[in-house]
Amino acid sequence: MLFYRFFLCVTLLLAFDKSFSQLVVYGTSNVIDFDFDWRFHLGDLPRASNASYDDSQWRKLDLPHDWGAESSFDLDNASGWRGAYLPGGIGWYRKNFDWKKKPGQHLFIQFDGVYMNSEVWINGHRLGKRPYGYISFQYDLTPYLKDSNNSIAIRADNSKLPSGRWYTGSGIYRHVRLALTSDIFIPQWGTYVTTPRVSEESAEISVKAEIENKTGVQKRLTILTDILAPDGKLVNQKSTQTTLDTGLNFVTQTATILRPLLWSTETTRQYTVRHRIKNGARIIDEYSTRFGIRSIAVNAKDGFLLNGKKLKLNGVCNHHDAGPVGAAVPEEVLLRRLKLLKAMGCNAIRTAHNPAAPEFYAMCDSLGFLVLDEAFDGWDKPKAEFDYGLYFNEWWKADLTSFIKRDRNHPSVVIWSIGNEVPEFEHAFQKEMVDLLKGLDTTRPITQAKGFSAPYTDLAGFNGDGEMKGTLEKYHAQYPDKPLLGTEITHTLQTRGVYATKTAYRTRDFKAPWEANAKWENVQKTVTMIPDLTAEEVFKDNPKFYQSSYDNAIVRIGVRDQFKKAQELAYLFGTFRWTGFDYLGEAAIQPARTANFGIMDLAGFPKDHYYLYKSLWNPAPMVHLLPHWTHPSKEGVSIPMVAYSNAESVELFLNGKSLGEQKSSDELQFLWMVPYQKGTLKAIARKSGKVVSETTVTTAGAAAKIEMLADKQKVSANKRDVIHVEINITDKNGTMVPDAGNLLTFTLSGPGKIIGVENGDIIDFSPMKSTQRKAFKGKCLVMIQATGDPGVIKLIASAEGLPLSGISINSQKP
Ligand code: GAL
Repeated sequence: MLFYRFFLCVTLLLAFDKSFSQLVVYGTSNVIDFDFDWRFHLGDLPRASNASYDDSQWRKLDLPHDWGAESSFDLDNASGWRGAYLPGGIGWYRKNFDWKKKPGQHLFIQFDGVYMNSEVWINGHRLGKRPYGYISFQYDLTPYLKDSNNSIAIRADNSKLPSGRWYTGSGIYRHVRLALTSDIFIPQWGTYVTTPRVSEESAEISVKAEIENKTGVQKRLTILTDILAPDGKLVNQKSTQTTLDTGLNFVTQTATILRPLLWSTETTRQYTVRHRIKNGARIIDEYSTRFGIRSIAVNAKDGFLLNGKKLKLNGVCNHHDAGPVGAAVPEEVLLRRLKLLKAMGCNAIRTAHNPAAPEFYAMCDSLGFLVLDEAFDGWDKPKAEFDYGLYFNEWWKADLTSFIKRDRNHPSVVIWSIGNEVPEFEHAFQKEMVDLLKGLDTTRPITQAKGFSAPYTDLAGFNGDGEMKGTLEKYHAQYPDKPLLGTEITHTLQTRGVYATKTAYRTRDFKAPWEANAKWENVQKTVTMIPDLTAEEVFKDNPKFYQSSYDNAIVRIGVRDQFKKAQELAYLFGTFRWTGFDYLGEAAIQPARTANFGIMDLAGFPKDHYYLYKSLWNPAPMVHLLPHWTHPSKEGVSIPMVAYSNAESVELFLNGKSLGEQKSSDELQFLWMVPYQKGTLKAIARKSGKVVSETTVTTAGAAAKIEMLADKQKVSANKRDVIHVEINITDKNGTMVPDAGNLLTFTLSGPGKIIGVENGDIIDFSPMKSTQRKAFKGKCLVMIQATGDPGVIKLIASAEGLPLSGISINSQKP
């Protein structure tokens, strides 16, 4: 069995960007990667918990694993439209490992998330259960360890469906590791580092640590605490001699750091606290905690202040899945998604509606996102028939405690949320939760999305009702001192590459099941209407499942109107869109795999809203044109051409002829009506008369080529690295054919495997891990994961009538 020192292990877990090489596994210094070489069986086998159970015929696999996402969609699956018609069930995982017991050592198994109702056994001994599928947890293996061969068995039970209001995933879908400590050690999440006073000149650091003494006798020891600067240099050291009783002890130390390097959304420098427990000269245990030096404050007058500076939270809500990989999301898939959000100008993410994977927070720390960290969707009354609500009363205290202790050292985490649209909750119970939370962290404000009818949270979080005309203003007039937050404002409802010129309103035109009883006559009064772009629809025949990519398919308010409102209301310090990415499940129109809520689709391809947000949130000069310019049947028809840009003016040219320059306006978009004729539209964006950005859209000819764009040229043969291959169907000149839907066949050779194929089409029910997929609106994505062997990974794509295309990627020994 290999032991990796802390930093080495982390490097292995996240062998991508150098800046991410120290992510995630803060904590005890000896951790053992336990993700690989498991046996899996789908179906219940009660005897599989026995130590001697013969699992040799079971399937071999590596974790993280989500058996739902690798299954076929089936409209008869009980998960239904909520769960993307993917199956649940009961699954067993087993793994044997050799161990040599040593006195004075403790071994733990740590799970970042198992969906759901997990039970764990070692050598036939039941360690416990954990109903909540999103919580991280651990067990102490020590008392039941044997010398030589040990067996771990895990049962995950997601058989009663629907167990969530969205696609949940099934199985051990996050990482697993072993953590080895001495018998005097800092337990998992046993540190709490805060920065009570922060200025440019100095920062006061408070470091609290729990120390567990399992030796059975009192011990006199030294706690040596180093504070390491972002470059690893020692900047402060505290040494405390203390007598540790048996059981849990608490040690608090404080330190001052002069001229600290502050953490912010732009400068994401992090420090490390390294605890070493010393018995005389001998170091018996070590534990590291990453933290950031920053101050946060929120009030109704100034909004949100990061290091004393006002900052509007331009946020998105995200679910935990990532399209075709389901809930088992490799780091590089998550990282690609977060980088796309960052480039859009997004600075905040809400973990709707449950704890995310530990690596998510570490990436947010390093990329500079502010996180609204949400513990639960509903509470004790299930919102989906078999969800966590069934277990809530028994488990919420343990789960909320684990969640806060796990995440409270991350500088990115700036707000806690204790729930989302909790039905019929008791006010006294909100207080109970807030009190428990405040006992674990006092440095961050607490909200509850749509929980403002009770007074105990610090921030009033508004969901859809906050999109309605006048709601926020009215609340503010009544509670002028309460800062307001748009926990779910506003919705995106777009399908990539689809356009309609008449405005569509969800309640009127494509009602979601949860608003079946809503009457448009009533709803209309609350809606900020958007004028139609044309009197008669230009793009007829869009399937009812798809929504327009002009900013004109809305629930209650469009992006531009909402942006203006957010600018006006100083007390509304942030808004989180529903959602950053399309997520599996919760299909508003059925049958579909998802709704159209994402700013990006299931493949992570940007829809047009992406560029609208970019023009509003990211100051880097840009201009984007929509729609595409391939409309063969529309010669002479006037087509609304929209540009999104943060420049002062945009001039549009058709085949070299100017169609006029427009100045930026309150409309937050530039609009021309352009009679269709083949050719190229070019938009030139100017600031103070100077060209700052330009873009073109060109009429595409017939599909002629398969373009393949890989996001990297080499990977590590570490069973983790992922290559994203973006595929475009283009004409002979390389212009993407916007309506292309060619069936693509993929042939992979070498040391890689396809872990996802995705085109973003919400009504394409083909399997997501397959070697065939149609392009949708000209595009498709293939995700390839490296195996453990070095070599050349080759992907060939073919489609009838088009020449073969291929790419090669080197997979190198880690
Ligand atoms: C909200 C809910 C979200 C999502 C959204 C869809 O009410 O909090 O989870 O369901 O509606 O519009």
